[in-house]
Amino acid sequence: MLDDLNTPVSSSIIDRDTPPKKTERVEIPPRHSISAREHLLQQEISSTELRERAWVEIDLAALAHNVRQVKRLLSVNAQLMAVVKADAYGHGAVTVAQTVLQHGATWLGVATIGEGIELRKAGIDAPILILGATHSPEQIRALAHFSLQPTLVSPQQARVFEQTLSSLHQSGAVHVKLDTGMSRLGVPWQQAVEFLQLVSRCPHLRIASIYSHLATADSPDPTVMQLQQQRFENAIANLRAAGINIPRLHLANSAATLTDPQLHYDLVRVGLGIYGLYPAPHLQPTIDLKPVLQVKARVTQVKIIPPGTGVSYGHQFIADREMLLAVVGIGYADGVPRNLSHKMKVSIRGQMIPQIGAITMDQLMLDASAIPDLQVGEVVTLLGQDGNNFISADDWAATLGTISWEILCSFKHRLPRVAVSR
Ligand SMILES: Cc1ncc(COP(=O)(O)O)c(C=O)c1O
Repeated sequence: MLDDLNTPVSSSIIDRDTPPKKTERVEIPPRHSISAREHLLQQEISSTELRERAWVEIDLAALAHNVRQVKRLLSVNAQLMAVVKADAYGHGAVTVAQTVLQHGATWLGVATIGEGIELRKAGIDAPILILGATHSPEQIRALAHFSLQPTLVSPQQARVFEQTLSSLHQSGAVHVKLDTGMSRLGVPWQQAVEFLQLVSRCPHLRIASIYSHLATADSPDPTVMQLQQQRFENAIANLRAAGINIPRLHLANSAATLTDPQLHYDLVRVGLGIYGLYPAPHLQPTIDLKPVLQVKARVTQVKIIPPGTGVSYGHQFIADREMLLAVVGIGYADGVPRNLSHKMKVSIRGQMIPQIGAITMDQLMLDASAIPDLQVGEVVTLLGQDGNNFISADDWAATLGTISWEILCSFKHRLPRVAVSR
């Protein structure tokens, strides 16, 4: 192989790679023949390339199962909002939204207007709540145009909404977020009555819900969560006393949904749970969830290295014996955290195989000595099920000192999302 690299490159190849001189005429084939060829090429690429190097598998049957499981926990009056922000936690927003709506979710939650527009453009007409902040008249016009429902958090913002919607001769649903202790977006809960009186006086704003977000619902210690719920309840009682009509209340994320039906109110906002992961180990017995996302890649080269061989950048790993080294076509630019270098195992043919050397941008290496007849092209499971092995985003999160939410969101668009149903 080395000899091949040293062979002089043929002159015809050099000619082809040289850009034409400015004065030269370049033949442009007729447009239709290019697009027909491109189309064919596209088809070939999509059927083979999707699983050629590395990919993410999205198990739609598991997703549907999780939605049904969560629905089963809810009281009859509580609806399910599937939180599909951040491209559905890396799972692919449109496919996830379509699937969860088919299986019982009635609302969708996203972080940004762009995420909402993507769903609308895909033909999804379920109510969509924008959980993040929106302020400017341009954003408000986009919200109105695409029927996206904003979160209101300040008097200044409410006034801009009222003015802009009035100029459009339109009214719109708005959701008021109270800060009961998360100290993130929201009107301080003590100012709920004052703020909602202001919103009620705006003829173009229709209050669709009042909600808050819990900071510690995944903790086994319920103290802070109970305090937040108490503040939420107090604010609601004060609003009712002030004669303000509240059509819908919501407070629970996945952890709270699994913890206590008293936290369900009229709607629960579930993200992690529908993707099949538990917000905390102590919540595992409450519900049977199936992980939806798997990450796979192929072996791209196999070779024997002698003892003393350094592997990857910096030679942080030196083989202490003869080893079968396997190269795999996935790296940190695909979302495999570089900090997992030397600390992760993958599964091949149902066997756990250690990763060695620094994880590089597009590739990583394994000590595959346990599988002496390993072939180029074999499938490597980085996350997910392979034989009896199951590698979870929770395992990576524990190794890295982070949370599974971050792991799921880290997989880049370079990895094709392939829908499967197991
Ligand atoms: C306001 C809000 N509600 C609900 C959720 C869903 O949380 P989880 O993924 O823990 O269910 C999130 C996610 O971060 C959120 O920001």
